[in-house]
Amino acid sequence: MRVARPEPPLVTPDFNPFLPEVHADPYPVYRAMRESDPVHWSPDLGVWFLSRYDDVMALLRDQRFSADRSRSSLYVAPPRAVYRSLLTLDPPDHTRLRGLVSKAFTARVVEVLRPRIEVIVDRLLDAAAARGEMEAITEFAYPLPVTVIAEMLGVPSEDWERFRDWSAVLAASLDPVMPEERWARVFPARDALFDYFRVIVAERRSQPRDDLISAMVAAEENGDVLSEHELLVMCNLLLVAGHETTVNLLGNGLLALLSHPETMAELRARPELMESAVEELLRFDSPVQFTGRVAVEEAVIGGRSIAPGQSVVAMLGAVNRDPDQFPSPDRLDLARSPNLHLAFGRGIHFCLGAPLARLEGQIALTALLRRFPRMRLGAAGPRLRDTVVLRGLSCLPLLLR
Ligand code: HEM
Repeated sequence: MRVARPEPPLVTPDFNPFLPEVHADPYPVYRAMRESDPVHWSPDLGVWFLSRYDDVMALLRDQRFSADRSRSSLYVAPPRAVYRSLLTLDPPDHTRLRGLVSKAFTARVVEVLRPRIEVIVDRLLDAAAARGEMEAITEFAYPLPVTVIAEMLGVPSEDWERFRDWSAVLAASLDPVMPEERWARVFPARDALFDYFRVIVAERRSQPRDDLISAMVAAEENGDVLSEHELLVMCNLLLVAGHETTVNLLGNGLLALLSHPETMAELRARPELMESAVEELLRFDSPVQFTGRVAVEEAVIGGRSIAPGQSVVAMLGAVNRDPDQFPSPDRLDLARSPNLHLAFGRGIHFCLGAPLARLEGQIALTALLRRFPRMRLGAAGPRLRDTVVLRGLSCLPLLLR
């Protein structure tokens, strides 16, 4: 006799973003969580998960929560010291450091890079155009932002390859659970990168150029300057944050467009939609799915009491599909307005590089649509990368003619 097996419930008692089926398509699980348990305590992972827009918005602006993960009662110190960057600092250190670098990343300053980014995009696409196909992640989405940030920082182009390798290793360290062997690769990459930057910083100190490292060496606000160590940590952060995220905006964005051919055709016909299209692609399949905070005081969110030392995960990918904020949230609507997505976070840690990422996304997609009217998915199909905080593709084969 066969016994009908019940369908597994969408929200298992313990939400686990690492499960392969959740990783493959997390959005139905997010929806079920938002509907049934929006402030979810995970007994296995020992953290809270917030999936409602309003709750995450409040969390990211709440001073009772710290960005310093080491204040969590679950914190396990890695085998060697990790350096704290802007991302994990709280005021007043955060305020001070951010003030010293923020001027270099305003929309106005970044806009000056437009013609240069267009040249880099075109050069990358020329090679693919000649072949009629490309693997869009390794040949385009990856090299574009790393080239841009390397050039901004003032890293010579002959070192970009090495730079890319270090960055790939370091980016994987953003995941909250790190196996020993991954740490074993992270530290040598960080040391190599620090040694590398130390030389460039010394060179720029004696002979400043028109680049970001020279600007950071010279940065002074209210008599305050960046120490050498702070400068090296900042270079490291800009490199990793600056391209391991943008690669996923380009990859996920392209895949979303290719999976919605009518929407892509509309964007081709109405290029003036590009600015709002990039916002919608950031919302629809967000490159950074999670960020975290640690309660430093008792706080109540959505009626649940969060104790000091407990970690709270802000599910950015989930809140960007919250129907209370985004009508028909699973619809890709390139003209969506308003579109106050949280893909770049909110509050004092709001992404410093948002204007740069937006500009790169707009230029890259504009060029792809303009140059390749017949662009479509290659037979091998896309492949997801295995990182969980950063959601993106490791492979996206495209046919271009
Ligand atoms: C699509 C691309 C990008 C996405 C989705 C993204 C996402 C984010 C998010 C969600 C945060 C906030 C994390 C938190 O609150 O804990 C953040 C912070 C940050 N991002 Fe981005 N980012 C992108 C591109 C960039 C670029 C191009 C740069 C620099 C060149 C950059 C530099 C930073 C920095 C320095 C921070 C820390 C800011 C602070 O803590 O004050 N990001 N980013």
